[in-house]
Amino acid sequence: MKKVTIVLSFAALFIAACSGGNTNTTSTETPTTVDATTPDATAGEATTAEVVVPADINELLSKNTCLTCHNANEKVVGPAYVEVAKRDYTPEQIVELIYKPKPSNWPDYQTPMIGLPNVPKEEALKIANWIISLK
Ligand code: HEC
Repeated sequence: MKKVTIVLSFAALFIAACSGGNTNTTSTETPTTVDATTPDATAGEATTAEVVVPADINELLSKNTCLTCHNANEKVVGPAYVEVAKRDYTPEQIVELIYKPKPSNWPDYQTPMIGLPNVPKEEALKIANWIISLK
């Protein structure tokens, strides 16, 4: 506090010397805020490698409504695809699970996945192979 007032009055003096009167309003914030924010901003973002979804896969996921409940990296309504990848399914098993989900495989999830029998097999297989590739 003392420092600020000293700086302030110094500035006031300086300005007063040039123009006279009416000064104390400016320059309180600049010295403190600049120093305080910069180190924090960089420290918090130790990024883990995130999966980037290829455009063609993203299109299939979007078109077949998967993205409503799934994200490649994070739990949403359903598990992250990187988590599904850890279960070592075969592509055929994943396709089967898309058509007929087994909520008992994921007991921590409140809302079960609805079966999506309308997803064309070829598209389901592509998605399945991509999920497996995330391991
Ligand atoms: C209504 C939300 C919802 C939609 C839409 C949805 N899912 Fe799911 N998904 C879930 C939930 C919740 C789980 C975990 C619990 C379960 O299986 O019911 C899950 C689990 C899965 C699993 C793991 C299955 C297992 O038993 O290990 C795969 C693979 C999967 N989803 C793929 C997909 C794909 C691909 C699509 C799009 C074609 C899709 N999901 C659409 C909610 C959804």
